[in-house]
Amino acid sequence: MSPTAAGSCAPPAAVLCGLAGLVPSRVVTNEHLARRLDTSDAWIRTRTGIRQRHVIDPGQATSDLAVEAGRRALASASAAVDGVDAVVVATTTPDHICPATAPAVAARLGLAGAAAFDVGAVCTGFVYGLASAAGLIAARVAERVLLIGADTYSTIVDPLDRANAIIFGDGAGAVVLRAGHPDEPGAVGHFDLGSDGGQEDLIRVAAGGSRQRSSPGQPGRGERHFAMRGKEVYRHAVTRMAESARATLSRAGWKTDDVDHFVPHQANLRILHSVADDLGLPRERCVTHVESVGNTGAASIPLALADAADSQVLKPGDRLLLTAFGGGLTWGSCLLTWPMLPRPERTTP
Ligand code: COA
Repeated sequence: MSPTAAGSCAPPAAVLCGLAGLVPSRVVTNEHLARRLDTSDAWIRTRTGIRQRHVIDPGQATSDLAVEAGRRALASASAAVDGVDAVVVATTTPDHICPATAPAVAARLGLAGAAAFDVGAVCTGFVYGLASAAGLIAARVAERVLLIGADTYSTIVDPLDRANAIIFGDGAGAVVLRAGHPDEPGAVGHFDLGSDGGQEDLIRVAAGGSRQRSSPGQPGRGERHFAMRGKEVYRHAVTRMAESARATLSRAGWKTDDVDHFVPHQANLRILHSVADDLGLPRERCVTHVESVGNTGAASIPLALADAADSQVLKPGDRLLLTAFGGGLTWGSCLLTWPMLPRPERTTP
């Protein structure tokens, strides 16, 4: 544990000290989709802002992306920490229903023996994962945590479903957090987390769990695919993200104007701009990369951070607001001041 944290009675804070992300090399453009679906580049761009997404190859799985993102994040943190005590993977597309993906990821990273578990909060998974990692550090259960957001929606979205196939892409992003002082740059804090399970049917894979069991020939193919009621999700996403962002700023005593960069879950460009407008934040302060990778689920915030850090949009001392929304419904936000980090490897191949 760092001397600052060890020397104080206050619980240690989780401090960001490593960052990385990557998307698979295979690109699916809007034009590719328009060849097999009744859609068009113009429709997709106008409704979502997305131009292309990246997808894994047959035979690849979520853990393959998670391991590479984790390896890169550990390398980026190597000046600050040597190894980690816990590995947390936020995902909606685990390699298997049982066991969790995190232990396998830990083992493949040479971290067997570390605590390892998955967080399931759909597209809010990374923010829930940050809160879990911060909790492990505050409770002195772990001093260093590797948190990975990784999703491969291409494995659960029906490729013939034009409403959803246009939105999602595959990817992974990872951060390393170490015990430190709440006032140092990189300390994550002032969280807001929430949920509304009364709306669970708005985003769902109906079958394959205990409620609707999988057995050969039954249930129908469609029920094993991702389903979303897009219009209603859109409305909830804008409202919940804006409310969560406001609650978090108010807890920290920050004004909207104190936020240098708003880094939202990359759901859809129109949603992100509506939330920024609702908060009174100039759209230029909203970090977006959904145009080139689509909605990458739990990977989207760390991937957006890695892209923005690589292009030097984020500078040490900048104040960031992270806000996410996803199935559940779930939502969450957190604040941090950007630390000095090594420039991450490029997220695109
Ligand atoms: N290409 C062309 N037309 C399409 C289409 C596509 N890919 N997908 C749907 N349509 C059609 C619909 O069939 C409908 O046709 P109809 O009027 O003849 O019935 C029409 O376009 C409008 O559909 P609708 O679903 O009302 O469109 P929309 O403006 O709500 O946009 C989404 C659809 C999915 C882009 C939008 O609802 C959305 O972005 N929702 C949020 C999704 C999201 O970001 N989820 C992640 C949250 S974590």
